[in-house]
Amino acid sequence: MSAPSTHLTPEDLLSAATGLLAAEQDPLANMANLSALIFEALPDLNWAGFYLYRPHAAAPASLFTLASGGSGGAHIQPVLQPVSPDATAQGEGEGELVLGPFQGRIACTRITMGKGVCGTAARTRTTQRIPDVHAFPGHIACDAASASELVIPLVAHGQLLGVLDLDSPRKDRFSPADQQLLETLVAAFLAALPVVA
Ligand code: SME
Repeated sequence: MSAPSTHLTPEDLLSAATGLLAAEQDPLANMANLSALIFEALPDLNWAGFYLYRPHAAAPASLFTLASGGSGGAHIQPVLQPVSPDATAQGEGEGELVLGPFQGRIACTRITMGKGVCGTAARTRTTQRIPDVHAFPGHIACDAASASELVIPLVAHGQLLGVLDLDSPRKDRFSPADQQLLETLVAAFLAALPVVA
């Protein structure tokens, strides 16, 4: 897909995201472009991107799994890290979030489950729409400029995959309508994930 030539608006976000998801199947590429799309289309953001769930048990935790390729040698399989049903059933307190594709300033690379706004969204599997992050107990200040935050969990087929995180330097930046828009975008992303046999 070629880069959009005009500046995107919030009204463009869903149709542009749908277009991206129809044109590309790779979740990594889609998370990267969705981050850029959100960052461009929504005003007053200082960060937009993904944190991906990693169970502690998985070592090394990686988006890329090195698989033995038989006579062809080893090959790299790009996957959205599969989370075993066992790991999920044991409780996400066992895992952590690791930084994924994003737009904005350099950010914290790892977030413990249950910690901060992202860890809370991941552990509870509920969207966190926080009008004032400084009033949120345990908020993780990756960027001191952040004032409000919206975090949406990524849950597919009962499995936690990560979160989508948006930060704004403006207090009370995110409305219920913003939440609904971003939850719809996340649902479209999850529906487009390739199913691995
Ligand atoms: N503020 C988040 C941490 C991630 S950054 O905002 C990119 C939190 O409290 O979980």
